Amino acid sequence: MIRFYKEHDYGSASRRAADILSAQMILKPDSVLGLATGSTPVGTYQELIRRYQEGRISFAEITSCNLDEYVGLGGDNDQSYRYFMNHNLFDHVDIDKSRTFVPDGLDPDHEAACRKYDEIVKSVGGVDLQLLGIGHDGHIGFNEPGDSFDKGTHIVDLQESTIRANSRFWGGDESKVPKQAITMGIATVMSAGKILIMACGEDKRDIITRAFRGPITPKVPASALQLHPCVFVVGDEAAMGDLVKD
Ligand code: F6R
Repeated sequence: MIRFYKEHDYGSASRRAADILSAQMILKPDSVLGLATGSTPVGTYQELIRRYQEGRISFAEITSCNLDEYVGLGGDNDQSYRYFMNHNLFDHVDIDKSRTFVPDGLDPDHEAACRKYDEIVKSVGGVDLQLLGIGHDGHIGFNEPGDSFDKGTHIVDLQESTIRANSRFWGGDESKVPKQAITMGIATVMSAGKILIMACGEDKRDIITRAFRGPITPKVPASALQLHPCVFVVGDEAAMGDLVKD
């Protein structure tokens, strides 16, 4: 089942995504949420914080597993994804931080760090609901085009286009952007019970359409989601185009 939610704008798309996450949290208060960084989910996190403050949802029993992290950045670096999650969500809700997991970008033994992360995801019982954004080249997590669909957590060399897109966080200086990341693989993402992928803005229209209307191919990593049994695609009018609500 793939369900499309075409919302008016970024705010309503963020509220719709928060509805789906909240429903999961209410129905299963000890859910394992797979979380993403990037600009797209920021509004969703703000909405979840608001609902927490209003007493409508609680993170007290929630476990979270993030998708990815830059190699070489620790949680105190303000460009790390651990820092992002603390700043944009965890510091503002009642989540137990010892149950928030982010791949370890500092472990010098990359292979061990990947296996450890797969073990963590397994030991918490797998992800119930995985939140995703989508890159302009179709990447999900840091699974760049060409990565096979059967990988667990692994190290990736970032593509030029991703380095360029992310350089906005380093004052436009591409040389400062880390060149590698540790990411859940497509197989890890696909093992989640449900997937919620968000796309907002005109610039995401082409890739989100290719992901769900085009062929299933590692050239468009997000196209793998067509094979998943339960996917929610949430976006604004600018991105969703002809992808419409069921
Ligand atoms: C973030 C992540 C990435 C982003 C993607 C879109 O954890 O894994 O795949 O979801 O790069 O980023 P934004 O939302 O900034 O357009």
